[in-house]
Amino acid sequence: MIEIIQGDITRLHVDAIVNAANSALQRGGGVDGAVHRAAGPELQAYNNTLGGCEVGQAKLAPGFNLPARWVIHTVGPIWHGGNAGEPNLLESCYRSSLELAAAKGFKQVAFPAISTGIFGYPLEQATRIALSTMRNYEDRFEKIIACCFSADDKQTYDKVLREL
Ligand code: AR6
Repeated sequence: MIEIIQGDITRLHVDAIVNAANSALQRGGGVDGAVHRAAGPELQAYNNTLGGCEVGQAKLAPGFNLPARWVIHTVGPIWHGGNAGEPNLLESCYRSSLELAAAKGFKQVAFPAISTGIFGYPLEQATRIALSTMRNYEDRFEKIIACCFSADDKQTYDKVLREL
C-alpha cells in the first residue's frame, strides 16, 4: 500500500529511507542535510567509498544513527523546464530505488519529494511521477511511504493519488 504522511523522514523507523542526494554523494542541504545530520559522520565516510551516483540511479548505504536501517541515495534531475529528459530521469529515481529495495527484501520504504526542493521540479508534475511509479511496485512491499515535509505538499499528494 501507499501511505502519504507529513513529517520528517529522518524520524521514520522503516527498512529504508530514500535520500534526495547529489551525484557526488557529498552532504548538501534540504533532506540530504537532515539525513546526514541524523545519521552521523559515518554516512559521509561511507558515501566516499561509493564512487558517486548518476542522475536517475540509486545507491545503498547503512542508516548508522538513523532509526531507518538503510539509506537509499538517489539523484533527481535538476529542473531545466521539462524538455531535458526530466520526467524520465525522475521516474528512474523512483524505479531504481524501489528495485534496489525489493532486491534487498526491504518491506517498508519511505520517499521524500525528490527534486522538488533545491532542484526546482514543479511539485504536482513530480508527484504524478512519484505516485504512479510507487503504484507499480506497491504489491512488492508492505508499505511505500510518501513523506511530505509540508502540509501543502501533502495536500498535493493526496489530490494526485485520488486522481490516479
Ligand atoms: N523530511 C522529509 N522531507 C524533507 C526534509 C525532511 N527532513 N527536509 C526537506 N524535505 P531537497 P532536491 C523535502 O531540496 O530538490 C541537496 O543539497 C523538501 O521540502 O531536499 O532533490 C542535495 O545534496 C522537498 O519537498 O532535494 C542535492 O544537491 C524535498 O524534501 C539537492 O539538494 C526535496 O527537496 C537535491 O535537491
